[in-house]
Amino acid sequence: MTLHHFILIIHLLAATIWVGGHLLLAICYLPTALKKKDPKIILNFEKKFETLGMSSLVLLIVTGIWMAYDFGVTIETCFHFKSGFEKVVSLKLILLFCTFICAVCAQFYVIPNLNENNIKKIAVIILTVTSIGVAMLVLGSTLRYGGI
Ligand code: HEM
Repeated sequence: MTLHHFILIIHLLAATIWVGGHLLLAICYLPTALKKKDPKIILNFEKKFETLGMSSLVLLIVTGIWMAYDFGVTIETCFHFKSGFEKVVSLKLILLFCTFICAVCAQFYVIPNLNENNIKKIAVIILTVTSIGVAMLVLGSTLRYGGI
């Protein structure tokens, strides 16, 4: 096994946790929370998932950038949208930034005042972050064929 292959396995495990955790939240916990108008169901899940989820996101970034460098996509060549591979890596970084924006909105604006009346706001953020995660996974799957 090469070092790149090992890093890819870590990347895939982290992607499993990040995307899987968000799909579980969006498909199983969120509908119950909305039906019962109970934000605690979401907050309890987030509390349990936070450390694992954030560690997997950090691992995704570190391993992703590492592999991108292995393929010659560096800080200088990024965001030029020239080669298929570089396009995908650039799109992934843009989507990563969108994930950060959602996290900041959730932590500072939505979660501190979450109640049964504004639970839909956190639902929008959860569905957005989950969709972005799935999009990052789909984009990742194109890389072995040279990107888009
Ligand atoms: C939520 C975040 C992410 C998810 C869910 C994700 C998911 C994936 C998946 C499923 C693959 C496919 C591997 C394969 O086909 O064998 C992949 C590959 C890859 N990802 Fe990500 N990724 C994420 C973030 C990132 C970031 C931030 C970067 C770097 C900017 C990145 C760079 C790469 C690279 C370079 C590969 C190709 C590895 C290879 O084929 O050797 N990823 N990713």
